[in-house]
Amino acid sequence: MKAAIGGIGSYVPEKVVTNFDMEKLVDTSDEWIRTRSGISERRIVDNNTATSDLACEAAKRAIAAAGIEAKNIEAIILGTATPDMLFPSTACLVQSRLGINKVMSFDISAGCSGFLYGLGIAESFIKNGFDNILVIGAEILTKITDFTDRATCVLFGDGAGAVVIKRNRGASGIIASYFSADGSNWKLLQQPAGGSRIPASIESVKNRLHYIKMQGNEVFKLAVRAMYEAAEKTLQKAGIDGEAIDLLIPHQANIRIIEATAKRLKVPMDKVYINLDKYGNTSAASIPIALNEALEKGRIKKGDLILMVAFGAGFTWGGVLLRW
Ligand code: UT7
Repeated sequence: MKAAIGGIGSYVPEKVVTNFDMEKLVDTSDEWIRTRSGISERRIVDNNTATSDLACEAAKRAIAAAGIEAKNIEAIILGTATPDMLFPSTACLVQSRLGINKVMSFDISAGCSGFLYGLGIAESFIKNGFDNILVIGAEILTKITDFTDRATCVLFGDGAGAVVIKRNRGASGIIASYFSADGSNWKLLQQPAGGSRIPASIESVKNRLHYIKMQGNEVFKLAVRAMYEAAEKTLQKAGIDGEAIDLLIPHQANIRIIEATAKRLKVPMDKVYINLDKYGNTSAASIPIALNEALEKGRIKKGDLILMVAFGAGFTWGGVLLRW
């Protein structure tokens, strides 16, 4: 019995913000952003939009693509670092909006690895008898981005992607996965305030502690190592090497991290799907958005081996290998 993708959908907000727009906000340049990160533009929501709005759009599309109805969904797992609010979970908001039955619904806090962690959990539910599990990665990082901090504000974007995971007796589905985390460097990437450690106060707002703080170059080094480890361990479990992969879909944070990972795995860049130039880093949403786009562009055909790898705040990392 395999956990397979029965349907996929994604959604990004319409508003495009280019690197040239960013030049007007902070001391940066299109050239710096493109060469250091690979990003050219990103999508940004309006003030009235919350993460559940993006999640619902992506989920509706995934449910339609799966050819089922919302009432057939048996669990909702949603990866996000930017929930609508700390509680209730964004997954519960999605459940109520889409008229899904009373089914187990919860968020995962695993940063950019949230969607892959979700796939791993969904696979174990499938093995325990569940069917049609909605796994969503949805994020509005731009609402916790400090648009006076040039080191972070040029990197992030908003969006959502969703899949319906179904039971499959055939060949397609998840073949191997690997997940890990190391909390010892958590300080390198965090949103310090808004939780129980530093609750919201006039001071916390004045000190800009509700925004993302990242020591980019330190995170970069950890990301290169962890993305490779995630890929290698996943492939090892499946008993194959990098050359057998048809498409690598990495978390879209930085083109240099992706190139370093692909090189170590001996996967040529024409087998790596990249769209961070258009969307920036959309955290937990980046892999399902990229997977959906790759499918729409005809980059995936039946029987292909697809390896997805992610790294995010925590730090968390993981890989999922699936046959389409
Ligand atoms: O989503 C998962 C977690 N996140 C990541 O994986 C992100 C990992 N990190 C990165 O992608 C990269 O570290 C960045 C793109 C964030 C930065 O690239 P970098 O090559 O590591 O640059 P840096 O932070 O070492 O900064 C180099 C220089 C500094 O100037 P000095 O000290 O050399 O004079 C920065 O002040 O670039 C400067 N700088 C900028 N210059 C123009 C930093 N941000 C900018 C900017 N425009 N936006």
